[in-house]
Amino acid sequence: MLSDRDEIIQIVNEVKKIIDSKYDRDEKLAAVSHLLKDKIPYYDWVGFYIADQAKKELILGPFVGEPTEHTRIAFGEGICGQAAAIKKPFVVQDIRKETNYLSCSVKVMSEIVYPIMKQGEVVGELDIDSHTLSPFTDKDNALLGKICTLIAVLL
Ligand code: SME
Repeated sequence: MLSDRDEIIQIVNEVKKIIDSKYDRDEKLAAVSHLLKDKIPYYDWVGFYIADQAKKELILGPFVGEPTEHTRIAFGEGICGQAAAIKKPFVVQDIRKETNYLSCSVKVMSEIVYPIMKQGEVVGELDIDSHTLSPFTDKDNALLGKICTLIAVLL
């Protein structure tokens, strides 16, 4: 069985291969979404938002999982918007305890959002919904932090 560290290294290496591939930006973001959803059993919706800094809005990009009505999210609104406003990852282990939350599906129990930063500004976000309560650990933070650092070159 892979240790958490080995698994993180393996997934990060696959993300590097996707970034270096010949596909366009959205195909690469879709491939990373699929990779993460396939590899981590408690990742039920994985997708990217692209920041429109002029409008202070997040625009839905490639994703895998159920369709969402939240195709544009203002900075400050919901978990995604709050992560953009504070420029930091936002982890909600139990969405019932978060009042500033935009619901996508009644099945979602928890959410983790990582901003993708470039020169101190949020250029996008990686958003993950889970149907499991309190699933996120240091492993998710290590994995998603590394991935978002790499993905910045695409945005
Ligand atoms: N729940 C998010 C909205 C986006 S969906 O999870 C895809 C939020 O509160 O910002």
